[in-house]
Amino acid sequence: MPDGLIVDFLTGATGYRQRHSFGRRQPLPRALGLHKKDADPHRFHIIDATAGLGRDAFLLASLGVRVTLLERNPEMFSLLQQAMARARDHSPEMAAIMDRMHLLHADARHYLGGRSPEYVYLDPMHPQRTGSALVKKQLRQVRELVGTDPDSGDLLRTALQVATRRVVLKWPLRAPALPGIPAPSHQICGKTVRYDVFVRHRT
Ligand SMILES: C[S@@+](CC[C@H](N)C(=O)[O-])C[C@H]1O[C@@H](n2cnc3c(N)ncnc32)[C@H](O)[C@@H]1O
Repeated sequence: MPDGLIVDFLTGATGYRQRHSFGRRQPLPRALGLHKKDADPHRFHIIDATAGLGRDAFLLASLGVRVTLLERNPEMFSLLQQAMARARDHSPEMAAIMDRMHLLHADARHYLGGRSPEYVYLDPMHPQRTGSALVKKQLRQVRELVGTDPDSGDLLRTALQVATRRVVLKWPLRAPALPGIPAPSHQICGKTVRYDVFVRHRT
C-alpha cells in the first residue's frame, strides 16, 4: 500500500467540494445531463465503473444522484469501504449521501455485461497526470497501487454496448481518443481534463 494514501470524504478537496457545493453546473454533472432544467438528480442512477478514491461518485451523490461504485482493486476497494463507513458515522447529512453510494468489489467489464444501465461513467487511469499538486500526489499513489488500466478501451467498448442513455469518459484534455472508439457526441472541456459524452438512444 503506498504510504499515506488516504480516502476521505470529510476533509481535503473532496470535503471542500461537498461543503461548497458548486452544484449541477460543474463539468461532470453537465456531462451527465444533470444541469438541464427538467433533470431531477434523484431520478438518476449512475454506474461509476472506475470508483478509485470515490471523489466523483461522492460529488454526484452529494447532488442527490444514486451511484453504484465499481472498484476491482482489493486494496482500493477496502480503503473506499472504510472511508464510506467513517463518513456514515460522521453526521446524518453524510449518512444520507452514503446511502446513495453503493460500493461493489467488481471488475466493471464483467459487471456491465448482461446489464442495461442508463448511465455509465468512466475515469480510468490517465496516460498523463492532471490536477492540483495534491491530486497529482494522490493519483501517483493510486497508480502505484492499481497500475495503468491498459484495458480501458475494452471497458469503454463494453459501456457503449450496454448503456441506454449516456456514457461519459473523463480523459486528459489533450490526450488522443482511445483507439477504435467512435467520436463522442460532444465534449465538456475543463482546464486539464475533458469529458467525452456518448449519447445513446436505446430507451
Ligand atoms: C483514476 S481512478 C478513478 C478516480 C475516481 N474517478 C475518483 O473520483 O476518485 C481509476 C480507478 O478505476 C479502477 N478501475 C479501472 N478499471 C476498472 C474496471 N474494469 N473495473 C473496476 N475498476 C476499475 C482502478 O482500479 C482505479 O482505482
